[in-house]
Amino acid sequence: MHIIGVYNIKGGVGKTATAVNLAYLAAREGYRTLVWDLDPQGAASFYFRIKPRIKGGSKKMLRGKTDLDDLIKGTDYENLDLLPADFSYRNMDLLLDEAKKPAMRLLKLLRPLSYEYDLIFLDCPPSISLVSENIFQAADALLVPTIPTTLSLRTYRQLLEFVTNNNLDDLRLMPFFSMVDRRKRMHIEMMEKLPERYSELLSSHIPYASDVERMGMYRKPLAEYAANGPAGVAYESLWDEVKAKVWS
Ligand SMILES: Nc1ncnc2c1ncn2[C@@H]1O[C@H](COP(=O)(O)OP(=O)(O)OP(=O)(O)O)[C@@H](O)[C@H]1O
Ligand SMILES: [Mg+2]
Repeated sequence: MHIIGVYNIKGGVGKTATAVNLAYLAAREGYRTLVWDLDPQGAASFYFRIKPRIKGGSKKMLRGKTDLDDLIKGTDYENLDLLPADFSYRNMDLLLDEAKKPAMRLLKLLRPLSYEYDLIFLDCPPSISLVSENIFQAADALLVPTIPTTLSLRTYRQLLEFVTNNNLDDLRLMPFFSMVDRRKRMHIEMMEKLPERYSELLSSHIPYASDVERMGMYRKPLAEYAANGPAGVAYESLWDEVKAKVWS
């Protein structure tokens, strides 16, 4: 089982779109895939048309009193399951803080799923918190959608610093450019400059495209209605690259 966190300190950069679309492509290829919607806003649950609610709330779940298996829902797609969001996730930091090893809690909860899934995507809320620390401990790799601007680069550097300071040496960082607008000079400049500085940067990038926005209207992964558009093709290329890295 591989666990991939889709994470950025910044909000609105394409984390949920990435988690949903890559999970769909993985499942379609036969990988038994789970998405855990960790964001109390419940956007990934919305895209999969599943109520953002878990029985008993996060308190019981984090204390290990609810079996994760009982909370997981099947989606409309074969091999693809969802662990829905819950509004109580907004208090997850406080609840985690009560645990014995607060940063290891999610990893402990996820371990028993290793027999059922090949791949788990964690759709993370923005911010850097105890929840994110849990995600860093649980994940084998972090996919970091990054808009090519100087401000985004700054937040990526903050992440790098956090990873170094907390000795998270086993965590593979996979930043990639998201919401790319080639009409913007800054986007082009950043995309030219950064690959030589950050060798971990993936070469696939996701263009800014209204096809992606329409996921909210259709409530479906992109490949279900616009597989051959520029964004659909870009997600396929991103999935191929991620797959090659994760199983290397
Ligand atoms: N490549 C793209 N082109 C155009 N719009 C996009 C693209 N990716 C995402 N969006 C839109 O931008 C908004 C934010 O995307 P998304 O929810 O995936 O980001 P996020 O990082 O998960 O946000 P949050 O931090 O709130 O969880 C959504 O309305 C989505 O439809
Ligand atoms: Mg999101």
